[in-house]
Amino acid sequence: MCGITGYVGRKDCSTIVAQSLKNLEYRGYDSAGIALLDDTLRVHKQSGQIDDLLIPSAPDATCGIGHTRWSTHGAPTDENAHPHTDCTERISVVHNGIIDNYETFKRKLSDDHEFTSETDSEVIAHLIENALEKGADLRDAVEHVVGMLDGSFAIAVTAVGHDGIVAARQDSPLVIGHDEESSFLASDVTAFVEHTRTVTFLEDGDIAHLTGDDVTIWNGGDVVERDRQTVDWGADAAEKGGYEHYMRKEIHEQPHAVRQALSGRVDELAGSVDLDLSLSQEYCNSLDEIQIIACGTSYYAGLYAAELLEAHADVRVSVHIASEYEFRAGRDPWRTLVVAVTQSGETADTLRALRKAAGAGARTLAVTNTVGSTMAREADDTVYIRSGPEIGVAATKTFASQVMTLTLLTVYLGRQRNALSSNEASTILKELSAVPGAIQQVLDAESTVRHTAEAFADSEAFFFIGRRLGHPVALEGALKLKEISYDHAEGFSSGELKHGPLALVTEDTPVIAILTEGTNADETLHNVKEVESRGAPVIGVTSESDPNAVFDTALEVPSVGVMEPVVANVYLQLFAYHVANAKGRSIDKPRNLAKSVTVE
Ligand code: G6P
Repeated sequence: MCGITGYVGRKDCSTIVAQSLKNLEYRGYDSAGIALLDDTLRVHKQSGQIDDLLIPSAPDATCGIGHTRWSTHGAPTDENAHPHTDCTERISVVHNGIIDNYETFKRKLSDDHEFTSETDSEVIAHLIENALEKGADLRDAVEHVVGMLDGSFAIAVTAVGHDGIVAARQDSPLVIGHDEESSFLASDVTAFVEHTRTVTFLEDGDIAHLTGDDVTIWNGGDVVERDRQTVDWGADAAEKGGYEHYMRKEIHEQPHAVRQALSGRVDELAGSVDLDLSLSQEYCNSLDEIQIIACGTSYYAGLYAAELLEAHADVRVSVHIASEYEFRAGRDPWRTLVVAVTQSGETADTLRALRKAAGAGARTLAVTNTVGSTMAREADDTVYIRSGPEIGVAATKTFASQVMTLTLLTVYLGRQRNALSSNEASTILKELSAVPGAIQQVLDAESTVRHTAEAFADSEAFFFIGRRLGHPVALEGALKLKEISYDHAEGFSSGELKHGPLALVTEDTPVIAILTEGTNADETLHNVKEVESRGAPVIGVTSESDPNAVFDTALEVPSVGVMEPVVANVYLQLFAYHVANAKGRSIDKPRNLAKSVTVE
């Protein structure tokens, strides 16, 4: 999704802004641009890759802004790329989000202003032009204009004759980085983490003025102090480290990632978990329902967790696609815990759902990877999944970490609610601690998966089947494959095959079946027979040693109890990766997709 970046300071401004744009590539984009400010404004913007973007020569520039655009209003053309300028070409603006009332302003301004793009964003430059003409300084002008805009946005503005960058945040993330002599601005820390790990997250309504090492923040007209925080990962965590793709690197990081999710939170012997939550035992006991809200891969992690929560914490759970969520009548908000599962902590659909839940009076909990993200700050409680940065658009390690963290939440609630004995809790925690080693075993078998993937790469379609905990994993396996290979892939509950999808099964549609603990594997075996008798090749991802289970290819999952489907999923990630790689796809940046979807 769109990314903003900016720099004010005495270092090599154009190189820093250009590099930070590269660092934001992973968010997904279709055009990019840069504006550098010395005694004049030098803007270059175009559709296509950042590598092809002409960086203006401005050796004396001490201030610059940049933007990666993922089109919403207007096609991905050079004209629609950001930064946008005013009629005098002295003001440049980059914008993330959507301005709901831009058409009203565009109509009003059209008599005196010349518009060069179809975007909602360009009105901001012209409105600021008007405000500056009336004698306002840049900060006042931005504050005035922001007050007129409806919608969700983050903007950054530079103007000839005005010091530094003025930035504003309303429902779209912005973070400032600080070092001794410069200030950095970005949609996320990845943009500048190679320069500094000291950051300030802006809050809604904040207007910030960055002038080199000095940053002032206002909210509601008053100067406000915002805490500086230290990011606990460095630039190397966001580099490829010798791998050809981030996705493959991140698949291989899973043993470490899931260990981090457990670290310091588990007492295996006592069967207890500490997630540093503010939920009292009384509240946990009074819980009537948990509602999980999420999108994409996070939604599948939520489906997985729902099975475990119902079984081990004895609580009713509903899982909602965030964009469809309503806090429906008949629910008691006081006795409903709403859990937002979100890697980025910024997904607009999930954020909106979280706000609906909070507005209805429910207690909220964010399960996220991103420290300082909007949902981490807005939820009543937050549990971090601690995956480290995930750059590949297709979520991999964060799925495993989400499921691990949600399983810890299950054990925590199960114990609080007396639904789980300490022995039962110990068993689950032991299974969790075996997951890193089990994932490593799967990773060590990568060459087998690669051969299988290459053998089937040209198939007409791929079907993934599983029951219970195997169902969300089947859905996630299909999602991974379609995202990065562009092949037709679908996940089904095994039992549903005969109710329709079986019509699609032929000898040219491999079926990948999940047959592990927690997946009612015996029953899925019947469905395996159904597809085999229609000629479909079957890849069994299995921890079962059933002699009747004969697969064209068997991928063996080590025994780790209820976590086996998560381990099986690593095979599916590798399968998707190698099918896509065999086809030469753009694995880390699949077409049309964005890492962090900050529009509804
Ligand atoms: C986008 C990404 C997916 C991700 C989903 C939810 O669609 O491409 O990989 O699963 O958003 O993102 P979140 O950050 O809320 O987990």
